[in-house]
Amino acid sequence: MTDTATTIIGKPVSRVDGRAKVTGAATYAGEFRPDGLAHAAVVTSSIPAGRIRALFTDAAEAAPGVVLVASHHNAPRLPYNSMAQRPQVDPQAGDQLRVLQGPEVQFNGQPIAVVVAETLEQATHAAALVRVEYDPAPAVTRFEEAAKSPRKPGAGKPTDQTRGDADAALAAAPVRIDATYDQPMEHHNAIEPHVTIAAWDGDRLTLWDKTQWVGNDRAEIAHVFGMPEENVRIVSPFVGGAFGSALRTWPHVTLAAMAAKMAGRPVKLELTRRQLFAAIGFRPRTVQRVALGAEADGRLTALIQEAVGHTSQYEDYAETTVEPASMLYSCPNLRTAYRLAPMNINSPCPMRAPGVITGVLALEMAMDELAEAAGVDPLELRLRNYAERDENKNLPWSSKSLRDCYRVAAERFGWSHRSAKPGSMRDGRELVGWGMATAVYPTHRAAASASVVIRDDGTAVVRSAASDMGPGTYTSMTQVAADALDMPVERVRFELGDTDLPKAPVHGGSITMASVGSAVQAACVAARARMRALSNAAEEVRGADYAGILRRHGLPQVDVEADAAPGVEQKQFSMYAFGAIFAEVRVDPTLGTVRVPRLVGAYGSGRIINPKTARSQCVGGMVLGLGMALSEQSEWDDRFGKVMNANLAEYLVPVNADVPHLDVTFVDEHDPHVNPLGVKGLAEIAAVGVTPAIANAVHHATGIRFRSLPITPDKVLAGVGKRR
Ligand code: MOS
Repeated sequence: MTDTATTIIGKPVSRVDGRAKVTGAATYAGEFRPDGLAHAAVVTSSIPAGRIRALFTDAAEAAPGVVLVASHHNAPRLPYNSMAQRPQVDPQAGDQLRVLQGPEVQFNGQPIAVVVAETLEQATHAAALVRVEYDPAPAVTRFEEAAKSPRKPGAGKPTDQTRGDADAALAAAPVRIDATYDQPMEHHNAIEPHVTIAAWDGDRLTLWDKTQWVGNDRAEIAHVFGMPEENVRIVSPFVGGAFGSALRTWPHVTLAAMAAKMAGRPVKLELTRRQLFAAIGFRPRTVQRVALGAEADGRLTALIQEAVGHTSQYEDYAETTVEPASMLYSCPNLRTAYRLAPMNINSPCPMRAPGVITGVLALEMAMDELAEAAGVDPLELRLRNYAERDENKNLPWSSKSLRDCYRVAAERFGWSHRSAKPGSMRDGRELVGWGMATAVYPTHRAAASASVVIRDDGTAVVRSAASDMGPGTYTSMTQVAADALDMPVERVRFELGDTDLPKAPVHGGSITMASVGSAVQAACVAARARMRALSNAAEEVRGADYAGILRRHGLPQVDVEADAAPGVEQKQFSMYAFGAIFAEVRVDPTLGTVRVPRLVGAYGSGRIINPKTARSQCVGGMVLGLGMALSEQSEWDDRFGKVMNANLAEYLVPVNADVPHLDVTFVDEHDPHVNPLGVKGLAEIAAVGVTPAIANAVHHATGIRFRSLPITPDKVLAGVGKRR
């Protein structure tokens, strides 16, 4: 690496693909145009449980432009071979939904037929002509009913932790909090819908697909169709937002490949906005009990967190919701549990900071309640319970800058000017509230590979089968490569999103820079060493010398590939990113509206490769947390088992006018243990802690605890009304 004074790492480089994206030159999965492309429209079930008694496709088949109608009557039986190891992005118990393999219906919105036509309009029209008769069966569509007899997740990581005797300690504690928090179902709602274009060439299949993991996409589809992985190629150069919805290979990908096979020509299948609410997973509704016991000074003696989240009838999707409770604060007595409430619904899936965001919001809202009960400032309460090591894994932290985060964010916010009493900070008719919360997210890393080509024209191409769903992977990887190669970023190109490239892990869990970045760095360091060997130089060669060295040897280029994988450090240290969030709210007691004029976040997230894209990550995460606090929810209709507001007009995400000044600071953090780059990832921690900071601020403004999210005007009005 070049010395830190001159390195491009840490510089606010603008997105290398920014121009292509804003000018439309970037080709997203749904924009490829193989010859003879036909269009598919999906027909979905309209009951939550039962069987298809009869399916009438004559009218659809006779409609203009229709190529075929596929259903369980004529679809090929697919082997759905199981993989040697279940993909880590799939639930670890249960079985994925099998499409068009039989008449059973397990949720409302399940794909039951596919119409292929010359145009999208023709396919959409014909899909509306498919008529279905059902034999309905009893369905579980009420969360409250499913949650009455919740069960343990069938397999996978144990979610339950015990330390000491939490129940006894709670009973003996001089200060106690015991409350239930309810967070609704949320859907990812990326602007780019999920889309797959499938094209067969004999027994070889190419999929242009929206995915966060081309490698797994290939493996899954190969197993579903019972074909060798080498016969499947996935191309996915750009992803228009995903937030976890494109981690798994969803049933519509199989449908697209199946339809293309049946039609004998390429088929494009794009889900409609409405269909996305039952086709690609969601953040499960989660109801949590948090019980805290403390000494009179607020020091925790007992922590109990019990969560129930819903899942489908065919898979056990469980989240790490209660994990933060086991490590975020020092507490001798702990009991956590995560239980499932199976319903007739499609399977949930990870959505930005899955589990962690949910668990932390309940824990941090409870900590605010404890602060009030103990008469301790909320920030001071966190400091009194600061965990000096991971008491869950019983390991030292690889690094932890949370004290710095608290201090920096509190100073920037002006927390010391807060008056403790709720409702005491009025401004005219507005109630002003200040709240804060802690943020945390685990730092993971997976094995990855990358290749480098250095050319005699003084340019380099670096490749890895990674994804970029928006964080700026193209840009940050180019920086890492340019740094290690000692070349200007303009001369380095990074390519991703294709199974023909060296293997990369899932683009999720905030692991991409730690994993792929380490491989890119290793490959580039090796390439530079190769150049040095070629030149017989005693010292490091400079990037500017590469072209000359290659020409002297008559070489048009050199190729280097390298792998990078995590090591023993994973067992020696507990690795997390931490942060602190402070929020101001203004509540209008007449209208019940909550406005957020400012959010201040400080993060200890290791080395920041690009402060510009990193800040963008945090802005996006804060906006997500703001939506979770005040507006976002998928409104569930108990009667029919479906989402009522399945559109962007009624699924309320914050718009520009809702988003305040967002203040983001990265505290200086050098972590020598996490990975060669010293990065901890930012995608997910940026979303954590915002929601409880806002909820706690609403309490500070109103004196009322709103434990059911989002905190909408109707709830505020009802709460304020009760007080009068
Ligand atoms: Mo993120 S939920 O790991 O895409």
